[in-house]
Amino acid sequence: PKLKAIDVSQLTTTTTTTPKDTIPHNQLIFGRNFTDHMLSLEWTASEGWLAPRITPYQNLSLDPATCVLHYAFEAFEGMKAYKDRNGDVRLFRPDKNMARLNKSVARIALPTFDGAAMIELIKRFCALEERFIPSARGYSLYLRPNMIGTQRTLGVGPPGSALLYLIASPVGPYYPTGFKAISLEATTYAVRAWPGGVGASKLGANYAPCIVPQMQAASRGFQQNLWLFEDVDQESGKKEDWVTEVGTMNLFACIRDKKTGQPELVTAPLDGTILDGVVRDSILTLARERLVPEGWKVSERRFHMREVCEAADEGRLLEVFGSGTAAVVSPVRSIGYQGRLIGCGLPEDKEVGEVTLRMKEWIEGIQYGEEEGHAWSWKI
Ligand code: COI
Repeated sequence: PKLKAIDVSQLTTTTTTTPKDTIPHNQLIFGRNFTDHMLSLEWTASEGWLAPRITPYQNLSLDPATCVLHYAFEAFEGMKAYKDRNGDVRLFRPDKNMARLNKSVARIALPTFDGAAMIELIKRFCALEERFIPSARGYSLYLRPNMIGTQRTLGVGPPGSALLYLIASPVGPYYPTGFKAISLEATTYAVRAWPGGVGASKLGANYAPCIVPQMQAASRGFQQNLWLFEDVDQESGKKEDWVTEVGTMNLFACIRDKKTGQPELVTAPLDGTILDGVVRDSILTLARERLVPEGWKVSERRFHMREVCEAADEGRLLEVFGSGTAAVVSPVRSIGYQGRLIGCGLPEDKEVGEVTLRMKEWIEGIQYGEEEGHAWSWKI
């Protein structure tokens, strides 16, 4: 028998009888408060995707032997709904999130799904939760699609059942300190991802192991880890610490070329160890469109800490920033590496560099529908 695909027309909605108060947007803490409802879709290996349901936000009931609780059958996404100044609700490149979730779940033997149908369900969910979407710039409704394996078994194998659900949390700036430049500890004793591994998939199992290194960095006064990967440089034959990501974000550096003086925006290539960030892709596209005509070079290439240190020493490290859905961009002030503190080109009295700020303005302009008719902004 043919397995059922997601059928949007079968959606049932049960609304809450106990609506929550909304929280003033300046009191929001990232990921602490949730809306009234959740969206759930069950899948079984014999039937496929069952009818989607919107219900009041509620606990899950799982048998203690459920496979997600033992073998980490879990993948997630992070995306946002924005309210524009006309009160319309918008999603930002939701097709990218659905494509990535399908890639992530496929890697851990969970079922794939029709991304377009899921986006339609997300639109309906957002319309229902509209009153929770803050309208102030920098604020949004963080959407968390999550898929888990739900089969009750300690047997190690492909889950025979799964649950795809979505919850939503009104959010403001990601860091409790607000939009401020952060300091990174270049982490040399632990790695986030490795060739042939699953660093490119958005699996919960990639996140938990990063917390102890984050606590260690915090104990030394750094806000986030700079994740490196030690590997031989094919050209020189020497071992180098290659720059990969920062905390839960992609990393960009602006470096002026030693010989030509040309400024370059550089980020690590998608070699399987790097998460294919939606904001990362957006920054690269905007940079190629808007910075290249100003004389910039835009590169997805490997770069190592020796290059970063040398550029900093010679005043050629212009800016460093992280990118992600939660924070959009996050300026970096300094990087602790091998006992020294590398300045990332930011004057002491400034929290953000020029390129970082322009990227933030451009992307938010599209997200909040201020840049009219942009294909990345999907009005619901
Ligand atoms: C992001 O930067 O959007 C993230 O991945 C953070 C999220 C895991 C809370």
